[in-house]
Amino acid sequence: MYTIVIKGSVNMSASVYVVGNFKGGVGKTKTVTMLSYIAATRKNRKTLVIDLDPQANATSVLAKTGDISEVKTSVTDGVINGNLEPEIIHVIENLDMLAANVKFRNFGKILMKMFPDDELAQITYLKKLIEPLKEEYDSIYLDVPPTISDFSDNAMMAADHCIVILQTQELSMDGTKTYINYMQYLIDTYNTKLDIIGILPCMLQPKARVDKKVMHDAEELYGNNVLHSIVKYQERLKAYDSEGIAMGHMFNGKPDHWDKVAHDLYENILNELDEHEKVLSGE
Ligand SMILES: Nc1ncnc2c1ncn2[C@@H]1O[C@H](COP(=O)(O)OP(=O)(O)O)[C@@H](O)[C@H]1O
Ligand SMILES: [Mg+2]
Repeated sequence: MYTIVIKGSVNMSASVYVVGNFKGGVGKTKTVTMLSYIAATRKNRKTLVIDLDPQANATSVLAKTGDISEVKTSVTDGVINGNLEPEIIHVIENLDMLAANVKFRNFGKILMKMFPDDELAQITYLKKLIEPLKEEYDSIYLDVPPTISDFSDNAMMAADHCIVILQTQELSMDGTKTYINYMQYLIDTYNTKLDIIGILPCMLQPKARVDKKVMHDAEELYGNNVLHSIVKYQERLKAYDSEGIAMGHMFNGKPDHWDKVAHDLYENILNELDEHEKVLSGE
């Protein structure tokens, strides 16, 4: 008996992505929400966002995007009950989420209580919970808080691929290096499979120039992992925090210019990441 697995068929299981950097305000949540939105709307991929940050920024953006006035369930309930499926919230066609809330700040305590003295069980719990969901989705994106913690450990252990944020206005790559070194530590210690699928330069200061030296150093150190697309400051991307992500108004039958610029950028990023994923999987 042979089973033929065709890409995109129901036999494929989702790719799981974590977006990382151990700093706040560098564009992690923006990357997760935009990539998942574009994967769902322009690539027709069945996509799930799991918000693992108790600050719930991704939850808030996606709730606005889907006109959801009250978020009634959360990933916290799923973690406590050992089943995430009943807590999934539908956002828009092809896009679902597992919402975070402040109760999720107790994730570490919940894990300690469930698995006392078993660190491996603690940091692989999310991976176990995600496993049955992988059959239902093409892509799963994890949004994490900027700390070395049970949140980031669980996300790294559950993910197949990591998208690392490179802050170009920092004049150094310290944040990126620290994150990649920690990733390597987890891979070595627990023999888990996780790769860097791309390093995404983000510069969120208005009117800042791309720091050529940092880009040069990053390319020297990480080669082709550094994406050609660069996320620059865009008012429209900021506005999506309060308005939700949308294609906005149409003018003369055409989409608004700034929405199109924002969405095209993340489509290009997704295309680059797809190419890298193909190379990594040896296709
Ligand atoms: N390209 C961008 N242009 C303008 N504002 C941005 C851009 N990317 C992110 N922001 C804003 O910067 C702030 C921090 O971004 P966020 O993605 O929440 O960072 P993190 O998740 O790393 O803490 C948010 O207010 C967000 O709307
Ligand atoms: Mg965030």
